[in-house]
Amino acid sequence: MARLITLIPGDGIGPEVAEATVRAVDATGAALEWERVEAGARALAEYGQLIPDEVFASLEVTRVGLKGPTATPIGGGHQSINVALRKKLGLYTNFRPVRMLPGLPTRYRDLPLDLAIFRENTEDLYSGLEHEVVPGVVESLKIITRNASLKIARACFEYARRESRRKVTAIHKANIMKLSDGLFLKCCREVAPQFPEVLYNELIVDNACMQLVMRPETFDLLLLPNLYGDIISDLAAGLVGGLGIVPGANLGDHHAIFEAVHGTAPDIAGKGLANPTALMQSAVLMLAHLGERQAAARLHQAIYQVYAAAEHLTGDVGGHATTSEFTDAVIRAIAHIPARQAV
Ligand code: NAI
Repeated sequence: MARLITLIPGDGIGPEVAEATVRAVDATGAALEWERVEAGARALAEYGQLIPDEVFASLEVTRVGLKGPTATPIGGGHQSINVALRKKLGLYTNFRPVRMLPGLPTRYRDLPLDLAIFRENTEDLYSGLEHEVVPGVVESLKIITRNASLKIARACFEYARRESRRKVTAIHKANIMKLSDGLFLKCCREVAPQFPEVLYNELIVDNACMQLVMRPETFDLLLLPNLYGDIISDLAAGLVGGLGIVPGANLGDHHAIFEAVHGTAPDIAGKGLANPTALMQSAVLMLAHLGERQAAARLHQAIYQVYAAAEHLTGDVGGHATTSEFTDAVIRAIAHIPARQAV
């Protein structure tokens, strides 16, 4: 029986990259069925709700979603949909693997980069607790809890054990925020000894930024509270060619939403120019999560082959192909990878 997946195409280039990804996933032969629901600016315009009830109703049944980017106004207006979904569904782990694709002319292309970021996803300065104390003075509350910090630390170390990764680096600013980042660090230190086979070290966030730019190959798994995780995720994406490429997953105990790191790219929306690689790579993570290992491996290999050939790449990575030309190339590559050989 086909497994039902909630598809949230989103805003801007979201519907374009979502449609491309659905075509590629369907070409792998994975037994999936898509339930399309709207969230974001379009949902607000059509149904008067940013996250209509049917989004949660669908995710309650499917437990797994694939999501395109959604627009969030800056400096006012509604709360981020991503933040709302992550909090409501308890998606406490934001997981972002960062690997080099073949053939991309990035500064770091000769380095063996293989990092993964574990970012706490539900609290910190993203709690949305801001207020004006007196005119001209505002406060934004940074919430760090023992519960959420232990959960993300365990998720990171358990992944390290499962995937035989060598090192976890906790990133913080506990020299200044002694209580909040101090608690985060304390929780990491509590979990680390339970995984003696994994090396553990700590870096202050500003130093971590410099080290990531100068010696990115020395990093393995990065463990961070929400805000530093958000910023360093984009820094790390920049090491391997940018936001159009790297995948993301929001994972909780009961639900998982897979989504690209990039935004709605209003400058190119509707022009057929968007790069769907990031959402396709997120779909690879989703297929693996669903136990569809063959399909995950076929899609992963097909994307790598299209990059290695460099004939059908989109403009953001130096090519001239449209979204659908790139997608067609991925689908052709999938057809040439026998299911049995893909592991
Ligand atoms: P953005 O990621 O949308 O765009 C930054 C630059 O990267 C633009 O030049 C854009 O054309 C390019 N770009 C991004 N994705 C691309 C792709 N797949 N293919 C080719 N080029 C791509 O970031 P920006 O402009 O800061 O945000 C625009 C909107 O997206 C905002 O409303 C923001 O809140 C929202 N956003 C949503 C996210 C989500 O839903 N996960 C994440 C980040 C931003």
